[in-house]
Amino acid sequence: MKELEDRIRKDGRVLPGNILLVDSFLNQGLDARLMNQMALAWQEFYKDEPVTKIMTIEASGIALAVLTAYRFGVPALFAKKFATINLTDDRHQASVYSYTREKSYTIAVSRRLLTPDDHVLLVDDFLANGCAMAGLADLVREAGASVAGIGVAIEKSFQKGPDLLRERGLTICSLARVESLEEGRIVFGKADA
Ligand code: G4P
Repeated sequence: MKELEDRIRKDGRVLPGNILLVDSFLNQGLDARLMNQMALAWQEFYKDEPVTKIMTIEASGIALAVLTAYRFGVPALFAKKFATINLTDDRHQASVYSYTREKSYTIAVSRRLLTPDDHVLLVDDFLANGCAMAGLADLVREAGASVAGIGVAIEKSFQKGPDLLRERGLTICSLARVESLEEGRIVFGKADA
């Protein structure tokens, strides 16, 4: 998505450790117009899927999920994060390993809000190691629901995530594909929309 790439070129900053800082328009600061265009791009890409819900994990995917849900005319839903497994049967849960923090956490959503008739589009701001999205897909399947696909704003294609998710048979629509952040330079590959 050209507008997103242009904005990353203009306002994105590369931090040590291959981190791309986009806090002025996608993380802390939110550019609603740009995010709405991103939602439109996913709506077009997944137009043949009978999507019933848009899901993400708290926190930074929520704004994108809300705008995308509005475009599709379906509810948005976010999984909450917990430090430990919580033994309760009123929630669907999955475990997620964070390479960044070197520990696992639990994601959970109420059973009332995600049911077997749901066909869910997963969205998030970044796809890095992919464990968060893989965990979310596990949670959807645990609920007996199906995954329509994944919408990612910025894919870091040099990390493990894209392959991990494709190996699981999941479709990904990445709006900006970053192939390298070496020496502070942002190198883009061809995006999916
Ligand atoms: P992953 O499985 O989600 O790919 O997670 P990983 O542990 O690799 O990344 C940890 C967190 O860092 C994730 O946010 C992810 O979105 C974020 N992240 C990864 N690479 C970048 C980057 O280059 N720039 C920025 N700004 N963030 C990055 P999270 O723990 O899910 O937290 P939240 O921000 O959604 O609350």
